[in-house]
Amino acid sequence: MKVLVTGGAGYIGSHTICELLDHGMEVVSADNFQNAVPETFERIEAITGQKVVNENLDLSEVKACQILFEQHPDITAIIHFAARKAVGESVEKPLVYYRNNLNSTINLLHFGTLAGVKHLVFSSSCTVYGNPGNQPVDEDSPVGNIESPYGYTKMMGEQILRDHIHSHPSFSGISLRYFNPVGAHPSGKLGELPLGKPNNLVPFITETAIGLRPCLEVFGADYDTPDGTPIRDYVHVVDIAKAHVQALLHIQQSDQRERFEVFNLGTGKGMSVLEIIQAFEQATGVALNYRFSPRRAGDVETIYANADKAAQVLKWQPEYSLETMMASAWKWQQHLANQR
Ligand code: UFG
Repeated sequence: MKVLVTGGAGYIGSHTICELLDHGMEVVSADNFQNAVPETFERIEAITGQKVVNENLDLSEVKACQILFEQHPDITAIIHFAARKAVGESVEKPLVYYRNNLNSTINLLHFGTLAGVKHLVFSSSCTVYGNPGNQPVDEDSPVGNIESPYGYTKMMGEQILRDHIHSHPSFSGISLRYFNPVGAHPSGKLGELPLGKPNNLVPFITETAIGLRPCLEVFGADYDTPDGTPIRDYVHVVDIAKAHVQALLHIQQSDQRERFEVFNLGTGKGMSVLEIIQAFEQATGVALNYRFSPRRAGDVETIYANADKAAQVLKWQPEYSLETMMASAWKWQQHLANQR
């Protein structure tokens, strides 16, 4: 099986490539390094011993996407990670997000199907559930009331895939709704690499701990949660990566029940921001400098997953503990510091 991984130099894409190669799958990446660096492929090679071909092109451009499939006519499946993903930026530049994230999905489905691709795994997010009332959230929970254009591109991406599959009986797809992927490869050689100031909690924690940032701001201590800080479902990025392998194996089975399926990927455990800080301090022995700040616009109070469906259908279960998530993120941050 030859798999096109879009956004292969990104955080989840790069970890997924390692898992795909580990399972003997052939991989080609398409990444234009808009929010990633080419060195990621050297890191993947250091871990797997294999060189990955990357096509540096903009998938939201029709011609570029067409050429990609002409150059790689033997692709059988696509895992589509490539997207802009900064929630706040998407509120400021909605058209940039809709143009990039939706056009790339449309182009991949169009030219991929013409080229004989049979499957697409879509990188979605728990953000599609908006601000859900009942916890944990399962796949039947309503989607909508989303806080950002970024989130709407994920909801619309799922809909585009669903409709495409409906009109193409030979095509099937899976949408994976990630909760909060964190941590890094156990080798310490691959991890999240935010360019500039991190938006997400764990990279901000590790950059603060190593001294790149003076202080972590905890956005809001007045939520209706046990310690007043928001609750999320943090899941190790390698577990998330492994779910993509399971999704590809499942999707190829001719007895796949539905040709379009949606799965939550989370641990099912809700953790507050303060609990994450504590877990980091315990796992690493490093005291973190933090202070409380006002709430961040668009943050939901609580969301964590019911991921039973992924366990039953994909035979996927997260294996890594919260301690390992924190320790591996820290190992990666230290690895980066040693390289500077
Ligand atoms: N947080 C802080 N300080 C920071 C960064 C984050 O207190 O410097 C808090 C946030 O307020 C939130 C929690 O840490 O309560 C987690 O924030 P992240 O930014 O790490 O993650 P989010 O849950 O906001 O975002 C994630 C994905 C998005 C996705 C969203 C859906 O990163 O892509 O879930 O809920 F859209």
